[in-house]
Amino acid sequence: MLRAANLHAGYRRGVPVLHGIDLDVAAGGALGVIGRNGAGKTCLAQTLTGALPVMDGSVLIGDDDVSGKDSRARVRARLSHVPEGRMIFGDLTVRENLEVAAFGAGVKLTAEQLHDVEERFPILARKAGDRAGSLSGGEQQWLAIGRALVQQPRVIVLDEPSLGLSPVAIDGVAEALTGIRETGVALILMEQNPYLLKAVCDEVLLLDQGRVTRSLDGEAGEQLVAEAYFGG
Ligand SMILES: Nc1ncnc2c1ncn2[C@@H]1O[C@H](COP(=O)(O)OP(=O)(O)O)[C@@H](O)[C@H]1O
Ligand SMILES: [Mg+2]
Repeated sequence: MLRAANLHAGYRRGVPVLHGIDLDVAAGGALGVIGRNGAGKTCLAQTLTGALPVMDGSVLIGDDDVSGKDSRARVRARLSHVPEGRMIFGDLTVRENLEVAAFGAGVKLTAEQLHDVEERFPILARKAGDRAGSLSGGEQQWLAIGRALVQQPRVIVLDEPSLGLSPVAIDGVAEALTGIRETGVALILMEQNPYLLKAVCDEVLLLDQGRVTRSLDGEAGEQLVAEAYFGG
């Protein structure tokens, strides 16, 4: 569903941060990317979603080569981004945040679609009229994921959704992401939290200084997550 081949990218022209990343996630699959601060997770998330330009290599959504396309075109090709730090509009209401996200993806938000998302995350219905900035961190993360969902994505790239959340809230995120996978959406999860990776992903890539140095699945993946996290 989402494929990147030999991807090179960076924040500044001529200063690459990613040095040839290959990754592939199928519909309904979940690929984790673990790496310490500065490894390039955010750069990868932003390059996949089009916030940063591809310097070399390619990004494909299904059969659609979107390497030269900006983030607006990619969200319309059904690739959604849950950015680091959530990036919701704090002065808009919860409902308005969902509406703006749908609009950005060229999706007409029907009452039924809204109901689906609010059923998955009931807090978004209960607080529909509240200023998004008044939500707790965990609630804002629900909203950030809800914003992606109303865009009717085929793929969602999430950048450290566990950041700043309590263990209970992280449990909730794990459960929600597993539920989203089951609907056939592909997930790419940039994370440092081993619990979340283990709970959600079937394959984990270890990113180090802009390169994938290991790629493991199953029990080996769990081992990798533990090593990366505990330095063992
Ligand atoms: N806005 C930026 N401009 C230039 N360099 C950046 C910027 N943000 C991060 N970097 C650098 O790019 C590298 C990768 O960072 P980043 O993508 O944020 O990794 P991670 O998300 O894994 O912490 C680091 O060396 C970091 O210092
Ligand atoms: Mg980051």
